Amino acid sequence: MIEIRPMSFEHIPQVWEIERRIFPLPWTKDMFTSEISDRPRSSYFIAEDNEKVIGYAGMFTVADEAHITNLAVTPEYQKGGIGTALVVELLERCLERRARHIVLEVRKSNIRARKLYERFGFKEVGIRKAYYEDNKEDAVVLCTGDILNPNYRYELNTIRSSVLEKNIKLFSKEKIILAIETTCDETSVAVVGNGFRILSNLIASQVNLHKKYGGVVPELAARRHLEAINPMVEEALTQAQVELNDLSAIAVSIGPGLVGALLVGLAAAKVFSWVLNVPMIGVNHLEGHIYANFMENPKISPPFVSLVVSGGHTLLVYVPEWGIFELLGETLDDAAGEAFDKIAGFLDLGYPGGPLIDELSRKGNPHAIEFPRALLHTHDYNFSLSGLKTAVLNYVTALKKKEQKVSVADIAASFQEAVIEVQVEKSIRAAQEKGSDKILLAGGVASNTALRDRFEKRASQLGVSVHSPSPVLCTDNAAMIGGAAFHHLLERHFLGLDADVDPNASLSKLVSK
Ligand code: KG4
Ligand code: ZN
Repeated sequence: MIEIRPMSFEHIPQVWEIERRIFPLPWTKDMFTSEISDRPRSSYFIAEDNEKVIGYAGMFTVADEAHITNLAVTPEYQKGGIGTALVVELLERCLERRARHIVLEVRKSNIRARKLYERFGFKEVGIRKAYYEDNKEDAVVLCTGDILNPNYRYELNTIRSSVLEKNIKLFSKEKIILAIETTCDETSVAVVGNGFRILSNLIASQVNLHKKYGGVVPELAARRHLEAINPMVEEALTQAQVELNDLSAIAVSIGPGLVGALLVGLAAAKVFSWVLNVPMIGVNHLEGHIYANFMENPKISPPFVSLVVSGGHTLLVYVPEWGIFELLGETLDDAAGEAFDKIAGFLDLGYPGGPLIDELSRKGNPHAIEFPRALLHTHDYNFSLSGLKTAVLNYVTALKKKEQKVSVADIAASFQEAVIEVQVEKSIRAAQEKGSDKILLAGGVASNTALRDRFEKRASQLGVSVHSPSPVLCTDNAAMIGGAAFHHLLERHFLGLDADVDPNASLSKLVSK
């Protein structure tokens, strides 16, 4: 089996043999010795087949930049993915060191090497004329974009998987995050690998507990989280086939949410972080909702506009790049999910109301009643749903007074239509104004089928693409928290053990640059 390992002094004679065989201007043994002695700055790896060195690569990092100095594979082993494996290892090390850009020079005629680096997103940024002494050949300077960018990491992860499939053993390990989500009435624990791979995602809904009250009772929610959290962590690890010692970090939603509920999650996260001596990462719950899109559709890249619609929130944000959230507008009163739940309660449909109204509306006429569309034509991106709620209440009360028959399906469909129209039109206007061709839906209400259909229809007419996570990643879940946390792990955004929850956390505070 071929294995990639850090280069040490005893490998240098074999490394030098290969160097001398392949390159017209070989490095000396002393050059290798001095490079690998410079541990904090340099990273050198070898590829080994049964203790025989068959390739090597190295680089040094300065601040946030890395420079690849060597890469070679013996001719007998070329085309076997070993060069790719060595570059993966170097880039993984760059991520650990927060080197965002990697530079290197390659002979202009070395098409094979240029192809290899191209696969990793290296682009030609310049030429060094007559750089090589032996034949005065030009060097092409290649450079990557920002490798800390999640889209880049996704590509790297894909290449990494292809290396593992070739049975090459890599030195760097997948970063496994245990994520905890207890912002409201779902206890959720997930295990996520490298920000994309959902190894387990357990969700214990408290719906039955709160049903009889018609809404979430904060004190009961916190107590139920407390009972559920430890067994769920155990089960999530078992399902993921991961041991506590395999974890690289603990992630937890720190807000917005119910203070008592949040505290249970944070206390659990602190214990695991302290006992295992791994960093703790606080994730904004809304950032998690947006990130859920990316976990299933990792090629989506900013800039985009995101409509976050959940039980507690309705907001429109612009994301020019990962980690930057510009709040465009939000609800001035009720959140979308809250309005769905209240109207469902009023119509005696049950709780939570969103999915029930969604289903019932399919049997109703969305144009039966013209309910108000608040703020549809204002030039801001705010929303208001309390007027609509009152209009529905008044309508039903008036009909009942007149003893007229009420078509619940028509009311549900017309209410839903009024909510959707404003959300779709404002989101599209925001995307157009920001010059973005993508809209990402997020949060529990994003699983509404009529909302998704309307977005699809309107957006495709305008050349805007609309993305939404599958329903299980729309509603509250810890996988989205584990995904978003990976970005913070690479950026070293950690919480101390004195961290507190932030029940009113706002997304725009997350600006991390
Ligand atoms: O994101 P989420 O799980 O929790 C919060 O962060 O608030 O969203 C829950 C909300 C509930 O109000 C629920 O009624 C609503 O999402 N919801 C829906 C649908 N599925 C869930 N609303 C409309 N249509 C749906 N299909
Ligand atoms: Zn949520």
